[in-house]
Amino acid sequence: MKKIGVITSGGDAPGMNACLKTVVEMSHNYGYECIAFRRAYRGVITNDYFTITKADVNSIFNIGGSLIYSARCKEFLEQKYKEIAANNINALGLKALIVIGGNGSYIGAQSLAKLGVNVICIPATIDNDVHSTTESIGFDSAVNNATDMIDNIKQTMQANERISIIECMGRHGGSIALYSAMASQADIVAVPEDPLDKEHIYRFIRDQLNYGNSSPTVVVAEKQYDVYALSKEIERDFNHECRAVILGYMQRGGRPTVKDRMLAIRYGVAAIELIDAGEKNLAIGLDNDRIITTPIDKAVQMQTNFRQDLYEAFKLLNNPRNKVK
Ligand code: F6P
Repeated sequence: MKKIGVITSGGDAPGMNACLKTVVEMSHNYGYECIAFRRAYRGVITNDYFTITKADVNSIFNIGGSLIYSARCKEFLEQKYKEIAANNINALGLKALIVIGGNGSYIGAQSLAKLGVNVICIPATIDNDVHSTTESIGFDSAVNNATDMIDNIKQTMQANERISIIECMGRHGGSIALYSAMASQADIVAVPEDPLDKEHIYRFIRDQLNYGNSSPTVVVAEKQYDVYALSKEIERDFNHECRAVILGYMQRGGRPTVKDRMLAIRYGVAAIELIDAGEKNLAIGLDNDRIITTPIDKAVQMQTNFRQDLYEAFKLLNNPRNKVK
């Protein structure tokens, strides 16, 4: 029987399970045995796999996390382990390995492709930082989670007239911060794509306070500031109460949104169709709501899919200097 392999890799993302279920069901429909490796590339290196059946995935569609575990595999940076993985895949006679993951997982896939393995990559990361697509599985769910939490935080901050500094995930990208800041009507957003120093943040807060907003909401993407220290400094310098909140893993868990479920199905179907048609070494993505493919070598080199236009719109909308009192 023809065989296809699958892994879920990197930070998990809501919708990974939905995509896995689709891949398993489509493999079966096309007459392939589907081999699932546990813990991403680690399972490929150690030959930790099983034949995954429709029964196995029956009830996972709307559940976050990953049935077959997701992992970041440091060993995979070493050539020796890449070769072990490629040999294991070839020994199993897999027609392709489907990699459901983010940009780090794509780089791993590219190195397998160089060793003769056919890889088909599906973007799944809450960070939406796979640049060969406008949308990754999990991003919409994370943005919805973050937006709900910021909505709640804003209410209590408003009642107590406090400034809030709310940190979102995103690794080195500001997409979760930007979208959730827009959707929750936060006042200020700080993203790594346009680094803001403390003076900038202070100026924005001062503008908000002067405008009569006694509870400015500042949403920041992670890895830029120590938000607890910043909050203390703001409280002291503005003589105005301030609280810091790190949203953390609450963004990454939970049920996938309808948008992510639809994306998971569309990408999963496309992956099996492409493999069956003999296509090789592709990254699947979305552009203008159409499925697109990009050679994996090109996909890993693409620079950004950050929505600069939305960022500019946010700044325009939220600058009190543009508003008439
Ligand atoms: O890539 C997804 C993500 O949640 C990032 O937003 C975050 O920086 C990172 O993973 C955290 O990774 P870990 O759970 O491995 O610490």
